[in-house]
Amino acid sequence: MNILILGSGGREHAITWKLAQSSRKLNLFIAPGNPGTASLGVNLPVDPLDFKAVRSALLTYNISMVVVGPETPLAEGIADFIEDDPALSSVAVIGPRRNGAMLEGSKDFAKGFMKRHGIPTAAYETFSSGNIDAAARFMRTLHPPYVLKADGLAAGKGVLIINDFDEALEELRAMLGGRFGKAGSRVVIEQYLRGIEMSAFILTDGISYKILPEAKDYKRIGEGDTGKNTGGMGAVSPVPFATLSFMSKVEERIIIPTVDGLRAEGIDYRGFIFFGLMNVDGDPYVIEYNARLGDPESEVILPRIESDLFDLLEGTACRDLGRCSLEISPDTAVTVMMVARGYPDSYEKGFPIGGTDKVTASTVFHAGTGITDGRLVTSGGRVLAVTSRGATMQEALDKSYGSVSEINFEGMNYRRDIGFDLKTKER
Ligand code: AMP
Ligand code: GLY
Repeated sequence: MNILILGSGGREHAITWKLAQSSRKLNLFIAPGNPGTASLGVNLPVDPLDFKAVRSALLTYNISMVVVGPETPLAEGIADFIEDDPALSSVAVIGPRRNGAMLEGSKDFAKGFMKRHGIPTAAYETFSSGNIDAAARFMRTLHPPYVLKADGLAAGKGVLIINDFDEALEELRAMLGGRFGKAGSRVVIEQYLRGIEMSAFILTDGISYKILPEAKDYKRIGEGDTGKNTGGMGAVSPVPFATLSFMSKVEERIIIPTVDGLRAEGIDYRGFIFFGLMNVDGDPYVIEYNARLGDPESEVILPRIESDLFDLLEGTACRDLGRCSLEISPDTAVTVMMVARGYPDSYEKGFPIGGTDKVTASTVFHAGTGITDGRLVTSGGRVLAVTSRGATMQEALDKSYGSVSEINFEGMNYRRDIGFDLKTKER
């Protein structure tokens, strides 16, 4: 069976790596992929946002299933495009249609959805440029800091958390005035929630669901969770404070109402849902939904899944997920992201990467790499995700940091404290 994975980062390398372990005979194609995926399948020079080019790849390579990695093709309707084309009727898509991807693509839609289905989330209102005065009145009812969220996709940069009222109002004006382009033409203002964050993930066929391993990622560039936000500098799974009792609240209060709510609203959702959660004194609240797996969360979730990922995806495609079993390893998986000097601001590319061939204790997922003159080089801000499994978090961390020390490229940077806040809480 021929499968196409769309995307080019560490998440897509991890998905490809996991599918490559299937007991089924799968031919894996990745568009556009990276040098890591090239060792597991065939990279195709196709932009996932160029739907016509995706279509011809599906036909040329006789693809039966497409797994969509990133959010933008989903928000732009890649699933609708494929499913509504009679010539592609034999192609299954793992990833929601545009109306399901709205859970991630519109913060206002996501908040409204949660309100309609009684799913715990921060109190909020949505404003557009004509309503600055009303927004100011609403903000006065909230306790600082103020949380401002651009409604649309803003590559992880659309959320501002500001302590000072006047500064928050100024930022709100700038957002509504076009700072984030169309994504900010509406802004969600919400109550700040104090707690500790983690993420839960499901795979759903629209009827039943499987809860995948949970994860905690480390978003800030600096040790001790300081400095600028990044796409993610590392991740850990399982999360020690995600106890059975906490996860059963997540399932009862959040996962079940989300899956049922989608169905009740006529949204046929087949794919992954990523729940960004805040644990507030033992109670889970949804901070955000994503319509995909996370990156670098995938690099710790997928290595803990013992079952055949292809079976689960096939069950999803056939709306038959209920028959599948999901086995999860009790091991801890960690990943340490190696990034380029300057990231998350501007950085240079093209530095040769050495040492990945010496790594034996870990799996090295490629996030931003390329090949120049036959050599592996850096080609992104996040370059490599070094994942290890261990019976304890410390054992996994020791392996990953040992592997990181084998790898070198000019200007390489990484956080030395992944998991630091979980160390006293290991379960
Ligand atoms: P989002 O893109 O909605 O996940 O927001 C980005 C980050 O902002 C989250 O990962 C949280 O760290 C933080 N955040 C968002 N909403 C809230 C909130 N209501 N209270 C506290 N922190 C928040
Ligand atoms: N690591 C956060 C995300 O994938 O959105």
